[in-house]
Amino acid sequence: MSTSYTPVPLPRVEGAAFSGTHVPLIERYHERLPFAVGDKLVSLQEGSTPLLRAPVLSEMVGASVRLKLEGANPTGSFKDRGMTCAVSAAVRDGAKAVICASTGNTAASAAAYAARAGITCAVIVPDGKIAQGKMAQTLVHGARVISLAGNFDQALTLVRELTDTHPIVLVNSVNEYRIEGQKTAAFEIHEGLEGGLEALCIPVGNAGNITSYWRGFQELGAAPRMYGFQAAGAAPLVEGRPVEHPETVASAIRIGNPVRWEDAMAAATDSRGSIRAVSDEEILAAYKLMAFREGMFCEPASAASVAGLLKYGADGAEQIVCVLTGRGIKDPETAIANNEGHIISCPVEMAAIEEAVLGDP
Ligand code: F0G
Repeated sequence: MSTSYTPVPLPRVEGAAFSGTHVPLIERYHERLPFAVGDKLVSLQEGSTPLLRAPVLSEMVGASVRLKLEGANPTGSFKDRGMTCAVSAAVRDGAKAVICASTGNTAASAAAYAARAGITCAVIVPDGKIAQGKMAQTLVHGARVISLAGNFDQALTLVRELTDTHPIVLVNSVNEYRIEGQKTAAFEIHEGLEGGLEALCIPVGNAGNITSYWRGFQELGAAPRMYGFQAAGAAPLVEGRPVEHPETVASAIRIGNPVRWEDAMAAATDSRGSIRAVSDEEILAAYKLMAFREGMFCEPASAASVAGLLKYGADGAEQIVCVLTGRGIKDPETAIANNEGHIISCPVEMAAIEEAVLGDP
């Protein structure tokens, strides 16, 4: 594949990066990231995502709750924060190919950034277990998609072995650049709330993101309580042992043996937070609540943060942020399967149209 992409260099003027919000993430926070002035960047203008008030949720919880809309990133999930760093570093270090195991979002993000950089990308995904939007994204960006007759944990084990013996850069969250990039979401929240955050609610799968946020807050000297939530059928950190056959409607977090296990537990413990489980029913109820009442269509996995807050509360915290990690439109199967009863079939006839539009729902 050709390397026709001309990466954007970091700004040379000190402080220039901080004007406005439409700046690539590495430029905005270059003083806190492992890149030097003049380094070439692979960016899709990620980061600087909205921190939206959630009036209905706030009312229900009796505190001020905001939603960190990570679906507003270029490929529709928080993965882009880490991927701009991982792919920029890979290209800087002369890599020609990247690879990841994925439940879908990492794959879509890696594929997009690799396309932008003009390098090759391969992804290994659990067969039949990734949402269609994510598969579509990964395919259109030209990645090589390997559909494994196994689960995410098996895919990650294989891909780690493969990258030990081949010159391909692993861009899963074992890659430190991923954590570095993702910690910037904590910076944005800290800036947005002027340091007043008391509790962060976040879904946990491979546990890279909770690790990243905690690192980001710590770098700023902040210490909100970190409340991580796993799906009950895929809750190794709650059960204290790997789950061999993880199952959940939230396919993004269908993970039984997270690589950032110790880091995630440390984040929860050191912040006086916790990692707890929410059922699929609770996840879907929160998913619908976000869409019906707050106008926010997130992924089922993202709704685990809201489900957890509603189920367990936040120990009296008054300023709370729920991280909505990905866009709902990535998973049309779940959206339609849970709302099919709302479609009204209608013949071409005015009386029927009137009944359909005006009649009892
Ligand atoms: N939410 C979404 C939408 C995700 O895609 C993921 C992880 C998580 C939450 C959990 O984050 O793994 O850092 O604890 N998705 C990975 C993937 C595993 O392959 O896309 P985590």
